[in-house]
Amino acid sequence: MHNMKATSPSQQDLTPVEFNAEMMAEINRVIAMFPEGKQKSALIRILHIVQTNFGWTSVPAMNKVAEILNIQPIEVYEVATFYTMFHLNPVGNYVFEVCRTGPCMLVGSDDIIAYIENKLNIKVGETTTDGMFTLKTAECLGACGYGPVLQCQYKFHEHLTKEKVDEIIEAYRQASLLN
Ligand code: FES
Repeated sequence: MHNMKATSPSQQDLTPVEFNAEMMAEINRVIAMFPEGKQKSALIRILHIVQTNFGWTSVPAMNKVAEILNIQPIEVYEVATFYTMFHLNPVGNYVFEVCRTGPCMLVGSDDIIAYIENKLNIKVGETTTDGMFTLKTAECLGACGYGPVLQCQYKFHEHLTKEKVDEIIEAYRQASLLN
């Protein structure tokens, strides 16, 4: 199995994108929750809408968000690049975000990350060629007493061991067969 590497923003297709009517309705609903002149406060929620619809957060999509909010594109990039939950490259069906912060590191997150890399034959930031799994690292996921921890599709997998990682990967593979 080979892998798909992440591309830098400068390698992306920068053709402008359009958001469909359903997305725009949801975006406008979120913007309306904030006072006049404070529409930028809707930014993170809008980025979630973008990612839910496209599967990731591309530069053209961020440019479109800037246009909608009437702010500079850099103001969108700086938020999207700060939060690891926004995928700045296409990702697989299942994104493993493994915590690498101190408390998890002390109980073996490095070994877990290396084990997943080896098992899936990808490095952090890469996606398997079957498009099934992407491996990312994250800063503290707020479950420090349960480390090592990984998050996938809003679900936490705690007290990770190599055996548990095997089971988790197999469970997601099985789940994908049902979809
Ligand atoms: Fe890993 Fe907090 S350090 S969840």
